Amino acid sequence: QLRAGRSRSIGLVVPDAGNPFFADVARGAEERAEEERLSLLLGNSDEDPSREDRYLDLFREQRVNGLLISPASDLIDKLERVQSAGIPVVLVDHELPGSTFCSVSVDDVEGGYVAVRHLIDIGRRRIAFVGGPSSTVQVANRLRGARRAVEETPGASLEVIEMPGLTVLNGRTAGEQIVERTARPEAIFAANDLLAVGLLQAFSMFSTVRVPEDIALIGYDDIDFASATVVPLSSIRQPARLIGHTAVDLLLRSIDDPDGDYERNVRFRPELVVRASTAS
Ligand code: RIB
Repeated sequence: QLRAGRSRSIGLVVPDAGNPFFADVARGAEERAEEERLSLLLGNSDEDPSREDRYLDLFREQRVNGLLISPASDLIDKLERVQSAGIPVVLVDHELPGSTFCSVSVDDVEGGYVAVRHLIDIGRRRIAFVGGPSSTVQVANRLRGARRAVEETPGASLEVIEMPGLTVLNGRTAGEQIVERTARPEAIFAANDLLAVGLLQAFSMFSTVRVPEDIALIGYDDIDFASATVVPLSSIRQPARLIGHTAVDLLLRSIDDPDGDYERNVRFRPELVVRASTAS
């Protein structure tokens, strides 16, 4: 039973509402919330900690029944204040090590490993990782997995191209930089599908680079558009709607049964989806 005197709502804060991954997470969360006649209030932080802060204050004032958040920055202490105000918190798309919050995520270290292992299995050795700020936990974990796959393969190398954010525009900028170089990578692991889409745009608009012949490319998330890109994109699938649905489930359990015996850190396994962009 939900606490009296609360708005019949749940807050969800995401770093980029323009990323289809988070739109699908919101869809899954809303579907489960609807079953309990709860509304979902969506806040977009644009990876800006001060905007994240404002939403935490707003959802506390709104007396939401619970908060789902994919933290753009390391804000354990702020989230602990929300939780101590009686609003349970569930982390979406990655755990915060050392925190007591429930979380729903995909094992991003394994995801990064599987992505680069696949590039190596199709014969590529000179590999580039195009990611966002290493302060983004999920990006750092994907890179860790990528490094492990390279380190176990003689002759393989990994260069890291760090962009300011995980957007299509940043992917296009990275792609333009890569096509202007003489020594290009044979393969690219993009930290999410938006970066991969931008890379594909740059290659097809500004160069004769062929994917996968010259550069194989794999993304992460497997958003719906990944299969509709100019070269259908291989990706590591995150079950976004299931993540959203499960996060609300965990929230409701922590409201109804705070000391219950259930898994507080649900971790899905990443799934490799092979399409034309890494055809060997
Ligand atoms: O926020 C950037 C990325 O982290 C998203 O594309 C999704 O992969 C999330 O885990």
